Amino acid sequence: MAPERIVILTGAGLSAESGLGTFRGKGGLWDEYDLEEVATPEGFARNPVKVHDFYNMRRRWLREACPNAAHFALAKLEREHSGEVLIVTQNIDPLHEAAGSKAPIHMHGELASALCAYCCASRPWTEDLSLATDCPACGESGYMRPDVVWFGEMPREMERIYAALAKCDLFVSIGTSGTVYPAAGFVAEAQGAGAHTVELNLDPSEGASLFAEKHYGAATEIVPAFVESLLKP
Ligand code: OAD
Repeated sequence: MAPERIVILTGAGLSAESGLGTFRGKGGLWDEYDLEEVATPEGFARNPVKVHDFYNMRRRWLREACPNAAHFALAKLEREHSGEVLIVTQNIDPLHEAAGSKAPIHMHGELASALCAYCCASRPWTEDLSLATDCPACGESGYMRPDVVWFGEMPREMERIYAALAKCDLFVSIGTSGTVYPAAGFVAEAQGAGAHTVELNLDPSEGASLFAEKHYGAATEIVPAFVESLLKP
């Protein structure tokens, strides 16, 4: 029977062929940068300049990055599937939206957004951030930070995500190593709800054995093929 409610989880592997780096494995960002230094609130408190530099560099990468065939295939699934499709991404890039996806949940926040830690206002941001950046909402200086979720902070929209997982028929995990919770636990939630579970990745993730169906290869090849198989009558 065709699935009615689909939840898709995406990770860095989805955007790898768009030129944005992954985190783990050879050449990954965590090879070159210390996660504790650039992706924790404590690291930001210790050395905000270093953290701003890291995210400014990644924000600049966005100027060159375009969505790839896998992002477009997922947007097509959203448009053409007769039931519900919820895309939950760990990615902070805006490539799902650029491909036409309506409202992906950015559970780890958004790189093209800045947050004021003083007044909590957030707004779209494409330029560099620094300690000298004034908050456009409250005018305070020194409080602007990337609008992303760091290790030790609460991922976004978890209630909505768990509600969708509890009633989905199909859960698909794409381009993620399955090492970071809570996202790494979604497959077990979906399985507990009776959903069929599928992994689409370059190679088996940490949690590969939990998935009922697996396809390995480049996202730009295996994601469009999987979407077509779902949409065919
Ligand atoms: P990882 O870098 O941990 O894993 C990327 C996965 O994508 C790996 O399993 C690769 O095999 C796979 N991959 C690489 N290229 C691919 C391709 N062309 N097609 C398909 N798959 C490919 O990235 P995430 O799992 O997304 O969090 O990382 C999760 C979180 O850890 C991130 O959101 C970030 C990071 O630390 C924070 O910074 C809070």
